[in-house]
Amino acid sequence: MKGRFYWWKEWIEKKHSYATTTEKQLNTDKFNAICAGTGLPNIHQKSTFKFKDVADGASRFVGNSPSGEKPYARIYTRLGNPNTEYLEKVLFQLECQHIIETALKRDEKNPTIASLVFSSGMAAISTIIMGFVQPGDGIIVGNVYGCTDSLMRFLQKRFGIDIYFVDATNPENIKNTLEAHPHVCAVLIESPDNPTLQLCDIEAISKYTEQHEAMLIVDNTFCSPYLQQPFRLGADVVIHSLTKYVSGHSTSIAGAALGPFEFFSKEVFPVYKDFGPTPSPFDSWLNSLTIQEMGVRMEHQCKTALQIAEFLEKHPKIEKVWYPGLPSHPHHQLCKKQMRNGGGMISFEVKGGFDAGVRLMNYFARPDTPMELAVSLGSVISYIEHPASMTHSVIPEEDRCVRGITNSLVRLSIGVEGFSILRDALNAGLEL
Ligand SMILES: Cc1ncc(COP(=O)(O)O)c(C=O)c1O
Repeated sequence: MKGRFYWWKEWIEKKHSYATTTEKQLNTDKFNAICAGTGLPNIHQKSTFKFKDVADGASRFVGNSPSGEKPYARIYTRLGNPNTEYLEKVLFQLECQHIIETALKRDEKNPTIASLVFSSGMAAISTIIMGFVQPGDGIIVGNVYGCTDSLMRFLQKRFGIDIYFVDATNPENIKNTLEAHPHVCAVLIESPDNPTLQLCDIEAISKYTEQHEAMLIVDNTFCSPYLQQPFRLGADVVIHSLTKYVSGHSTSIAGAALGPFEFFSKEVFPVYKDFGPTPSPFDSWLNSLTIQEMGVRMEHQCKTALQIAEFLEKHPKIEKVWYPGLPSHPHHQLCKKQMRNGGGMISFEVKGGFDAGVRLMNYFARPDTPMELAVSLGSVISYIEHPASMTHSVIPEEDRCVRGITNSLVRLSIGVEGFSILRDALNAGLEL
């Protein structure tokens, strides 16, 4: 919606000058080195921080940080904490190393992108939305996670925000919806989406969102910064559920959002401060620890996922497999362009439909199998789940079916157990 965001013009200039790049991926060694880091702080399990004197307290309350630390991070943990600050910095480097390098070369001092860590992925999504949404706004939403979908329906019902659910895998659908509804001020997508693993062309969509002054918000949870860095492709805001690949061990719930510095500091941070979607210092410390080997972990997970996807595709009891790394996937070429590889998630349908899928999933409820029947994803442990009755059960059935979340769809998150172990277990479960 033209004229909607006072910070837009400056951001778009910066976006073209810094954020988009011909390099679609951060070099793997650089990625792993940033993850490992050298500055992991001790745990600051504190809710408040003492001031030197009254003047110091007053100065910190207006955002000054005398030793160069993040503004507001040494006042009260709801506003920020050294452990959260460290994690925010690592995520910023992983998503924006290309921006940092360009800014350094140009000796540019003003920050372009801000990074905030939250108590959950949903806290990140809802705070970003609260940071801009007004009565009378419209938002375009692609295929998204069940709770994101229901949050959008809530905004529509309770606050009269117009939500347009579209098939975002075709950028023309976004273009047409933007043209038909000029009050749309944001587009929210996942790529690959949860759980059907369809991809959206982020670069193509960003061309349309830019023309219409609509923020392009990309939920990058399924990729983590390891597989995809959406700012390189034209995204305006990037969101993560850190609960998944960043945690990697299913030990905590957390989220993150990164986006235009002006928008975040003036609009998003006040909502963060007042709504209080803050993570605990311990969870931020845990995630700062687990992120250290995320790239190494994910490389193994993604390699195994490709092997499992190939195995399932040939299996006589499998009807259909969705894995972006398979040449048979409809968005395989796009995957090669915007992702490092096909990722660690697979969806498939078993021949025999729902009953056969339930038999397989119940097999993994047994304690002697190397996978867990559980939701969530990205862990070192492999998980199997049933989206229609679990993660996506809140989406009305007719909408679920249009999106391909059929009753026979099964979702797999590949851990680090190794191909032969998972293959043999899947074979055993499919024999039942
Ligand atoms: C793609 C995606 N986005 C957001 C979320 C929400 O994250 P959290 O559970 O950390 O709130 C999830 C959770 O499964 C997800 O899969």
